[in-house]
Amino acid sequence: MFEAANQGLVGGIDLHAHVIPEVDDGAGGWEESARLLRCAYGQGFRHVVATPHFREGQNLQRLQELADRLSGLAKSIATDYEISLGQEIMYFEELPETLREGGALTLAKSRYVLTEFLPGDSFSRIYRAVRQLQHASYIPLLAHAERYLCLRERGRPELLVQSGAHLQVNFRSLAGGGSDRRVRWCRKQVLSGTVRFLATDMHNMTARPPDTEEAVRWIRRRMGEEQLARLVRENPQSVLNNQILPHRLI
Ligand SMILES: [Fe+2]
Repeated sequence: MFEAANQGLVGGIDLHAHVIPEVDDGAGGWEESARLLRCAYGQGFRHVVATPHFREGQNLQRLQELADRLSGLAKSIATDYEISLGQEIMYFEELPETLREGGALTLAKSRYVLTEFLPGDSFSRIYRAVRQLQHASYIPLLAHAERYLCLRERGRPELLVQSGAHLQVNFRSLAGGGSDRRVRWCRKQVLSGTVRFLATDMHNMTARPPDTEEAVRWIRRRMGEEQLARLVRENPQSVLNNQILPHRLI
């Protein structure tokens, strides 16, 4: 029933997913969470890190309880289906301190922090944020890097990577044809190795479902099975293992 359409994605790990119901703009209820998880499993994912948006004053213990319930739901879909908890955090100056005090969550208890910015934020703001997180011994993983217009300028993604950040783009942003500037940018970054993480950023089954097929087909064709395995399994596995992924370009 859950034959993976994308063979290359079997064992895939999704590090960015709004699958916990009713805590942010993601899944609207348990029914939708179940549909999202089933759909992701069908595409080959075997581990999903639930990353609801950070909100100040959020009850993190409650979030963990919801993640535990989600984990039970995943196990009812398939016994080899795992759930972990993290957060997607809009960067703010006190974030390193908040993380240290346990007021916000890293990805699956690792040192990796899924952090986002506003699309129009300046490069100097993002660069400074990367340095601050790094200085506090965290590893910044920039959520949907394709959104930040300042990164379209030549050399800037490389500069961030060399400064200690990892960049994540959404699977869907690799799809849709090479005439789109955003798609072209994403493909170039993946090919050059500045982007080493892909994720679904799934929110719902209508406008933002897990949608990996076209991206996976493109990666397989342009980069081969080995690189595909790195992008969908090995690199995210190093996050789950809390291992440092060297900041090298391919
Ligand atoms: Fe997100």
